[in-house]
Amino acid sequence: KRVVILISGRGSNMAALVNVASDSAFPAEIVGVISDKSDAAGLQFAAGQGIPTRVIARADFADKEKHDAAIDAALEGFRAQIVCLAGYMRLLTSGFVAKWQGRMINIHPALLPSFRGLDTHQRALDAGVRLHGCTVHFVTNEMDDGPAIAQSAVPVLIGDTAEALAARVLKAEHHLYPLALRLVAEGKAVMTEGRTVFADSDH
Ligand code: GRF
Repeated sequence: KRVVILISGRGSNMAALVNVASDSAFPAEIVGVISDKSDAAGLQFAAGQGIPTRVIARADFADKEKHDAAIDAALEGFRAQIVCLAGYMRLLTSGFVAKWQGRMINIHPALLPSFRGLDTHQRALDAGVRLHGCTVHFVTNEMDDGPAIAQSAVPVLIGDTAEALAARVLKAEHHLYPLALRLVAEGKAVMTEGRTVFADSDH
């Protein structure tokens, strides 16, 4: 399957996907990376791996719809079959989400449905949960609300800071996202009527 990754920054999850997909046995190929920020560090990594990159900045478009239309055109140009959001820090418009629904996935640094939105690690510490983690889910119109494909739990350790917890969760993200993308690319996790349906699989 042809996969395009959307980023806004560091791109470590994007790099994790690029690394696993460089194995020809992996069922997905990363054919492009799109960033809404020209200074996203992840762009250098992708270019260094020979992956075509595009910067599509919000400031260059009159409104959100036109911005997302440009992203959609770039995805079509790449002949994307699956879209992976990996630290893409902008909400997508409903028309765009509807078009790619079932074919667009996101990684969120919390065990959804807990801690949607930003600042998840500090909020997990403040809430006093002893387990935290990350979720890969299909993207729907509600932010961080689509059905889960895979989750990974990480312990909250005594004396944790948000930074230490974030680093522990990020390691889990780098394992989880490739696993979830594999399930989607192989058709073993499919979004149907707002739920994830899992086909018979060896995972
Ligand atoms: C990750 O924690 C991801 O879960 C969240 O934003 C962060 C992006 O990090 N959505 P990176 O750009 O993949 O390094």
